Amino acid sequence: MLVATPEYNGAMPGALKNALDWLSRPVEEGLVLERKPVAIIGASKGPLGSIRAQLNLRVVLHKMDVAVVGQPEFVLPHAHKALAGDELPAGSPSLPILTAVVEGLVDLIERRRAAASLTC
Ligand SMILES: Cc1cc2nc3c(=O)[nH]c(=O)nc-3n(C[C@H](O)[C@H](O)[C@H](O)COP(=O)(O)O)c2cc1C
Repeated sequence: MLVATPEYNGAMPGALKNALDWLSRPVEEGLVLERKPVAIIGASKGPLGSIRAQLNLRVVLHKMDVAVVGQPEFVLPHAHKALAGDELPAGSPSLPILTAVVEGLVDLIERRRAAASLTC
């Protein structure tokens, strides 16, 4: 799963937290996202590019026992100026970082699959 978050008052938006809360219950039926590979990205209009929201999101995913890609961290400050329409323009220094996050997620998925096949 790839979670993209904006930043609302220094945290993830309430709607995203609410969705994660719903995914975490009932505990008796097992955590839906337990040990699932997840990557986080974010963008915001401010100068910190959603990093506070992402830290907030990481804490919640940690509590849900999710396997989160650690590095690199993709933030997009001043997103309303950094984007060309809905896209990062060619040559944007943010593009290789975004690519590395997605590659990190694919790598985590493959390592989890390999570990699961060893235990079968
Ligand atoms: C309630 C609210 C709080 C916000 N707080 C922040 C903030 O803490 N930092 C920031 O960089 N941008 C903040 N913004 C601006 C968001 O980065 C910007 O609106 C972003 O595009 C949110 O996307 P959305 O409104 O489509 O969900 C806030 C926006 C809203 C509506």
